[in-house]
Amino acid sequence: MRTLLVIGIGSGNPEHMTIQAINALNRADVVLIPRKGPAKDELAEVRRDICERYLTNPATRLIEFDLPVRNADDPSYLAGVADWHDAIADTYRDLLLSETGEDGTVALLVWGDPSLYDSTLRIVDRLAKSAGFSFQHEVIPGITSVQALAAGHRIALNTVGNAFQVTTGRRLKDGFPDGVDTALVLLDGALAARDLEGDAYDIYWGAYLGTADEILIAGRLGDVADEILRVRADARARHGWIMDTYLLRRRKLISLYLSGRARLLPRRRRQPHPHADRSALLEQELHAALLERRQQHRLRAAVQRVAVAFEILDRAARHAGERRKLLLRPVEQAARRPTLLRKERHMLENPCR
Ligand SMILES: C[S@@+](CC[C@H](N)C(=O)[O-])C[C@H]1O[C@@H](n2cnc3c(N)ncnc32)[C@H](O)[C@@H]1O
Repeated sequence: MRTLLVIGIGSGNPEHMTIQAINALNRADVVLIPRKGPAKDELAEVRRDICERYLTNPATRLIEFDLPVRNADDPSYLAGVADWHDAIADTYRDLLLSETGEDGTVALLVWGDPSLYDSTLRIVDRLAKSAGFSFQHEVIPGITSVQALAAGHRIALNTVGNAFQVTTGRRLKDGFPDGVDTALVLLDGALAARDLEGDAYDIYWGAYLGTADEILIAGRLGDVADEILRVRADARARHGWIMDTYLLRRRKLISLYLSGRARLLPRRRRQPHPHADRSALLEQELHAALLERRQQHRLRAAVQRVAVAFEILDRAARHAGERRKLLLRPVEQAARRPTLLRKERHMLENPCR
């Protein structure tokens, strides 16, 4: 059976290659190098450099091919992406058939890690359905641009005990994500962060991470956004392309608030993302409902614990010969006790749908 090795190569520095990745590279009969047009030849060059440095298997052949390009004019983003992925899957199938025998091994070198904002694994799934022959595939993890960014700035991705979100520039246009203090932004052609409140965030920005051209800028968003835009435009003009990633972290605003430099504003209602499909919206609703349900269950459990505590007190009182009688009521009635918060009462009085 044919084997497809999906190898994460790291995000620009050939030294990001793990020993597992180097061993996988040397197991391949054929390494496929995608060409993405003259403007991005430096990216193909990194892959060539990796092969030159680490390939010791004399039987391994390098095959360069032109990666199909997405039709950006397609009015439906999702349909356009689906067609594009089909075209890439067809290219892989043709290459597997023409370049390998039935037991051949082919390596695909994926930028960063294949699990992060990369469609190769989804395309391989498509290929498995449409190829007309069976193959197995393995995934070798790589260093992501997110890790390279954190290492460049010498920062941790999360604040103590808190979650962070990895997102795209397109999504950040809808606002900073809820429920996290840190967002990592990839695939942002226009620094969407510049529309956020400059006083409220720190930014850690990096371009060409891991390469000799790496650029790092960090500071209060309002102080450095213009500098980032300028440096970004210059670098892009020089190289013909740019890849940048950044981390945004909410600043502690309490001092600004107390000094009157920040006000509390009513929360803006979020619009659904224009490219979100119906199933994604349904998924969001389900998540919200699930969260609400979980909160209700937790509250019920708490009220039940109170009820049990009452019973113990009651028994203790009777044991001590006191006449005091504590009444136990059903949970919903107990929930109306004024000691419960208004919001919690509301949740109990409006049981989950
Ligand atoms: C299609 S995604 C691929 C991400 C990749 N799979 C990873 O693990 O990092 C491309 C985006 O990754 C980020 N990126 C990848 N390599 C980078 C680098 N060397 N420097 C800065 N950003 C990079 C940029 O945000 C770019 O728009």
